[in-house]
Amino acid sequence: MAPSAHPSSSPLLTSKEEEKYADVKWDELEFALVPTDYMYVAKYKQGESFSEGEIVPYGDISISPCAGILNYGQGLFEGLKAYRTEDGRITLFRPDENALRMQTGADRLCMTPPSPDQFVEAVKQTVLANNKWVPPPGKGALYIRPLLIGTGAILGVASAPEYTFLIYTSPVGNYHKASSGLNLKVDDKHRRAHSGGTGGVKSCTNYSPVVKSLIEAKSSVFSDVLFLDAATGKNIEEISTCNIFILKGNIVSTPPTSGTILPGITRKSISELARDIGYQIQERNVSVDELLEAEEVFCTGTAMVLKAVETVTFHDKKIKYKTGEEALSTKLHLMLTNIQTGVVEDHKGWMVDI
Ligand code: COI
Repeated sequence: MAPSAHPSSSPLLTSKEEEKYADVKWDELEFALVPTDYMYVAKYKQGESFSEGEIVPYGDISISPCAGILNYGQGLFEGLKAYRTEDGRITLFRPDENALRMQTGADRLCMTPPSPDQFVEAVKQTVLANNKWVPPPGKGALYIRPLLIGTGAILGVASAPEYTFLIYTSPVGNYHKASSGLNLKVDDKHRRAHSGGTGGVKSCTNYSPVVKSLIEAKSSVFSDVLFLDAATGKNIEEISTCNIFILKGNIVSTPPTSGTILPGITRKSISELARDIGYQIQERNVSVDELLEAEEVFCTGTAMVLKAVETVTFHDKKIKYKTGEEALSTKLHLMLTNIQTGVVEDHKGWMVDI
């Protein structure tokens, strides 16, 4: 259930601090929409450049029934987070990476994207306008959702004549409620992406096809679903909303981003952190057999952050993995979140102050 606004603020906040916060039960945040005050909107019309964009009150938008996004799914989204630090700053985690990924996705879907500078500036403006919705330090983050969608009317299959770049936000907590690790089901029936398709970009169309698997899995004992490659059905690819890693010995392996797997920004950051503490990182095909023999399995994503996998079930086999204090996943989670929340100094140049 989404947290509701409430008349008296958290007892943890002093009266002066209350003024800078929206009326939210910060301790009850989940990954569910809590609408904030403002959103950013810019438009592109064929033959012109992107409009400057403006911050407007958050609310419904009006588009043609014939819009490219509604009829042919011409749309991309991004996801990134803003954090409030103990010393009072609001920071963004690697927004430039999201800006670049939108460029790649726009090329695949034949849309003109905003420039990386416009993207990052727009994200900053949107967060500033909604700054009282950035949770107190350690209570979660403000999730930022940039969209690039074909809003122009188009009947034949083609690129829409107008695109809208829109950013809205929502304070969020953990993607999965349970503090324990995930219980994954390997889906050997549905495929998420195929070679030459759009699995490697953040197309809106990549996500609703996973819902059927998720519903099936969650109606049983599972928390999420792991998809296999479409070509052979032998290698692991992605979980419904995030990337996957396995650990065996000193080697951390993750499937390569060669077209069917989203190049996750958390994936890239975790690989770097694991390398920093002496692990070897291999980006290569990882078979289901190897998955079942791994010591640890974990997944990464902006919404998910880093989550340990407790069990994987493939047909009639159920494997249990190492989780908890001593696990690499716990160590990497702490390293990443300490940087993101300003608990340790960011020597990577990943955090951007607003
Ligand atoms: C993100 O981690 O930002 C995602 O895109 C996941 C989302 C589909 C919930």
